[in-house]
Amino acid sequence: MKFLFLVLIAVTVCADDALKELQQGNIQFSSALYQQLIKTNPGNIIVSPLSVQLVLALTQLGAKGDTAQELTKGLYLPNSPEKVKEAFKLLLPKLKGNEFYKLEAANKVYIKEDYAINAEFQKLAEEIFGAGLENIDFVDTAAASVTINKWVEGKTNEKIKNLITPDMLSAMTRLVLVNAVYFNGNWSSPFDTYGTEKRKFFKSEKEEIEVATMQVTETFKYAENKDLDVRFLELPYDGHDVTFTIILPNQKEGLKSVEGRLNEVLLPQNYSYERVHLYLPKFRIENTFKLVPALKELGIQKAFDGDEADLTGFLADKKSLVISDVVQKAFINVTETGTEAAAATAVALNRVLFEHSMTPIDFKVEQPFLYFIRKEEAILFLGRISSPSS
Ligand SMILES: *[C@@H]1O[C@H](CO)[C@@H](O)[C@H](O)[C@H]1NC(C)=O
Ligand SMILES: *[C@@H]1O[C@H](CO)[C@@H](O)[C@H](O)[C@H]1NC(C)=O
Ligand SMILES: *[C@@H]1O[C@H](CO)[C@@H](O)[C@H](O)[C@H]1NC(C)=O
Repeated sequence: MKFLFLVLIAVTVCADDALKELQQGNIQFSSALYQQLIKTNPGNIIVSPLSVQLVLALTQLGAKGDTAQELTKGLYLPNSPEKVKEAFKLLLPKLKGNEFYKLEAANKVYIKEDYAINAEFQKLAEEIFGAGLENIDFVDTAAASVTINKWVEGKTNEKIKNLITPDMLSAMTRLVLVNAVYFNGNWSSPFDTYGTEKRKFFKSEKEEIEVATMQVTETFKYAENKDLDVRFLELPYDGHDVTFTIILPNQKEGLKSVEGRLNEVLLPQNYSYERVHLYLPKFRIENTFKLVPALKELGIQKAFDGDEADLTGFLADKKSLVISDVVQKAFINVTETGTEAAAATAVALNRVLFEHSMTPIDFKVEQPFLYFIRKEEAILFLGRISSPSS
């Protein structure tokens, strides 16, 4: 069975204009990034667009001129640098857990030992992104990757391991910027563990498999959208401001056309509370994306081009750098009790070189579908399952 699975964690927040623009941009960027990723990834997907936006917005603090402009546009950030700073300063404190669930977004800056950071960049990185700074010997690529990966593991309950491979680092590496996003929440209406059983899932009209499927009967926010030919179901976690939304195409092979209209899918729907008998496969996904090709398609080009990049704001000596790699690893585990999801994204910055590197209504989720997790306005995770497995 193919099921498209979209995790959006959006953050409901105040009426501030800059933050509103960021939230709109988060939806647009999520959709745009997803469209790029599905070109080369036919199977299950879990991605955190927000993690990419956070680490590249941090990167943008060291960018100037057209390089900075392209990052603003490609990430769909608010269009003035002041608004960008204001928006992230408001957003970051919202990405925190409480007594009901765990949520954290953490940022970190690693800089080559013996290199001095630009004071202005450091100030903004700390003030806006809460990013700690640490010197590291990138020449010992194995030890440096272990150090960075340990930090990521610590921020993601060890769900994201080996984000950085030694080959991403070299004697040319000057900085590595990292973001980690972690969520762990219990359903406010858990599935009955004894109700889980093998059921059919249709990967396509003709191909069916058997998968462990959970069930629960409960009152949920439910919507039908005839135009998109899908149904929406929203499952709250304890605390009720983080939700998991399933977008289920009405047709067994309806996913593709829905994916083409993701922007509309991510808009608020016409929900009503309905009593629903939900069948949902359990699933667990983990994947790694090398993001440079997708980001180039989104118009971010100069930052990856040694001849054109203006990334002179990072180092005290104002020497220009170039982005050599952007990688994200993400994980999600959806079970009877709740969801654990994590993602980490790293940006490696090198000294400039010549070449660039790199009754109840029956709601049977038995065909490909989309889902998202929302904590109000920012999309934390986005993904697809074409074949659930655990
Ligand atoms: C989920 O519920 C279990 C059992 O009540 C509890 O031990 C756990 O801490 C909860 N998880 C979160 C993330 O709060
Ligand atoms: C939303 O739901 C109401 C009540 O069922 C209905 O009258 C209205 O047409 C719906 N709007 C859309 C956009 O589907
Ligand atoms: C997924 O969650 C279940 C239930 O909480 C847990 O038993 C299992 O170990 C988790 N799997 C992973 C890989 O974290």
